[in-house]
Amino acid sequence: MSIILEPRRTELAPAVTPDAARRAECGPDDASPAVASGLPALRIDHVTKTFVVGRHKRPVVAVDDVTLRVERGGILGILGANGGGKSTLIRLISTLLTLDAGRIEIFGLDVERDEMAVKRLINRVSADAAFFKKLSPAENLVYAARLYGIAPSVARGEAVRILARLGIAETRLDRPLEQMSRGMQQKVAIARALLTSPTLLLLDEPTTGLDPRSKLDVQTFIEELRSTHDATIVLTTHDMDEADRLCDHLAILDRGRVVAEGTPAELKARVANELGMPPTLQSVFMTFTGRSLDDDVEEAEPDDD
Ligand SMILES: Nc1ncnc2c1ncn2[C@@H]1O[C@H](COP(=O)(O)OP(=O)(O)OP(=O)(O)O)[C@@H](O)[C@H]1O
Ligand SMILES: [Mg+2]
Repeated sequence: MSIILEPRRTELAPAVTPDAARRAECGPDDASPAVASGLPALRIDHVTKTFVVGRHKRPVVAVDDVTLRVERGGILGILGANGGGKSTLIRLISTLLTLDAGRIEIFGLDVERDEMAVKRLINRVSADAAFFKKLSPAENLVYAARLYGIAPSVARGEAVRILARLGIAETRLDRPLEQMSRGMQQKVAIARALLTSPTLLLLDEPTTGLDPRSKLDVQTFIEELRSTHDATIVLTTHDMDEADRLCDHLAILDRGRVVAEGTPAELKARVANELGMPPTLQSVFMTFTGRSLDDDVEEAEPDDD
């Protein structure tokens, strides 16, 4: 059986951490000089992350010498099979994991050296979002907003507006979160991340598990966000149409390595011109990873000897 040795560091957990308290004191704008600096929103330089698992301490290289760059206002899509390293990369960017090697900068701020300032600039949404399940979406959002120094009345108004945009009516806002479907909870997680106007938004599979209508709501909202919130977005997805529609730039991760990178149009043209494949992202994915979209990366054999 595999043993997870690397604990996750502070998720946006429903608890007042010293950092959150500091944020509430300082307000979200402390790091804004960094944003105005004209530096890339995200710079990932030769980053590697290895997990050591199992009784035999077998290393799993989850992220292997990855170098990527996203300019302010861009949307980077990270594609890859299950186990490809997408979530690990997102966690490294969001300071939830420590790097083994390399460097990550958000608007020139180093994720390890300037962790507090970086945290004020980013927000991560993932399927495993932490909430107070007995409380309503409104209570959860107002609570989260208070950690960032946003007054409850302002937060509630914003929450209603964002959730309405995502297709959740105000009448649903005051029922316990545990009574909502997973898709609805995912929308609440997105709304919570947006309340604090993050400059770099990290969306780990934001539409996985949503019905087609909800998926469309979220995708349209992500498109709007970039123009209305001056947000830079990194998103992971298994949905090629979504990647095609939303992302300016794509990176395909296979066993932790970037095996292809470019705009959706560039990648499609490459497979069409060089290999005579149909110009679709499906063919791009198959060509560069050698797998179909629903293949998993093989897990290491269990240590039963
Ligand atoms: N905390 C951890 N401890 C040990 N191994 C881990 C840990 N997190 C991830 N891994 C391993 O790192 C590799 C990459 O996992 P990761 O979750 O980043 O993949 P992913 O691309 O997000 O996959 P999915 O599409 O299923 O979400 C996998 O082999 C996984 O088992
Ligand atoms: Mg993942």
